[in-house]
Amino acid sequence: MTLYLDNAATTFPKPAGVREAMVQALEELGGSPGRAGHRLAREASAAVFSCRVKVARLLGVSDPRRIVFTKNATEGINIVLKGWLRPGDGVIISGMEHNAVVRPLRRLSLAGVQVRTVPCDPRGEIDLEALAEELSKVPRLMVLNHASNVNGALQPLASVLELCRAKGVPLLLDAAQTAGIQPLDLEAWGVGMMACSGHKALLGPPGVGILYIRPDLDVLPLMDGGTGSRSEEDAQPDFFPDRHESGTLNLPGIAGLAAGIDFITDRGVSELCRHEIELARILEGGLEEMPGITVYKPGKRGTGAVSFNVAGMNPESVAHLLDELFQIAVRPGLHCAPLAHRTLMTFPEGTVRVSPGFSNSLEEMRSFLDSLGSLLSRRGQAPR
Ligand SMILES: Cc1ncc(COP(=O)(O)O)c(C=O)c1O
Repeated sequence: MTLYLDNAATTFPKPAGVREAMVQALEELGGSPGRAGHRLAREASAAVFSCRVKVARLLGVSDPRRIVFTKNATEGINIVLKGWLRPGDGVIISGMEHNAVVRPLRRLSLAGVQVRTVPCDPRGEIDLEALAEELSKVPRLMVLNHASNVNGALQPLASVLELCRAKGVPLLLDAAQTAGIQPLDLEAWGVGMMACSGHKALLGPPGVGILYIRPDLDVLPLMDGGTGSRSEEDAQPDFFPDRHESGTLNLPGIAGLAAGIDFITDRGVSELCRHEIELARILEGGLEEMPGITVYKPGKRGTGAVSFNVAGMNPESVAHLLDELFQIAVRPGLHCAPLAHRTLMTFPEGTVRVSPGFSNSLEEMRSFLDSLGSLLSRRGQAPR
């Protein structure tokens, strides 16, 4: 059986309740949510609303209608960047951003949006002094990756928010890696917008993401039409969540996400986080004892993602051999975050990333380390 250690890409396995909820949605909730008055449609709408309530509670949002369902974090990020920024506007990003942020901004920069990158130290933590200086130019938006998908580096969000607040600059938080594994209290913290995936630490299936937008921020929709509400009007509704939810929702996906959140609420975010970070520390400790291995440790760890390299081997070969010889699934390369790798000084080869999840055990981390050790000693013995 494969030892799956690629949870930063998508969590696997999902809690059993996720599959059950999805099957139940397909078998019993046949109607289209928000589209008709018959019983099955009403039940489908109720299931969607119940998931909105669970998400809102978990993220610290008082009005569940501010929770918009997207198909993934990338979609939510694109909605905000393209619906908020205008030619001539400035936007600040950190040196640890994902391509889900960098690529839409590259397109917007061709249309006159000015993108400024605030450097991070080689462990991935943002330089707050450099940020304060950039913020003094009062850009229209700041975007921050809460925790790195490359090495798990957690940003000092409270300090960043304080600096942004002082200048009245809204923050778009990319919580793709942290929603479900780090506490989030979006309203209390004054986060402007937040986008995340449903299929990572929120333990839902692929195909669902979440977007939150603070009521005072008017982000134009990326798509129009097909909301099921105000059909008599040509214009897109201006109320939430319909303003940003065009087209039929992914009902089985949303039902699965609700079950993923139930699992998180039962276990507790802090317990899930403690477990994942403990696994990461075992990995880091074991890797650091192996000769020829460099571990790219974060300043402050927020998730279980651990990145390393083996001297004289490219990350692809390491991952390939782990898969072929030991059925261990890890991810090599740039992890869709070339900018973060420039910061960590691992560009262009990237790293091998090991990312455990809630279902992994301490023994599995030791088994991973044993397998890697045996791979490296076999290689040492091989004729050159
Ligand atoms: C930090 C970060 N941002 C954005 C994304 C994009 O997430 P999604 O695949 O849900 O669009 C990812 C996915 O790996 C990520 O790690």
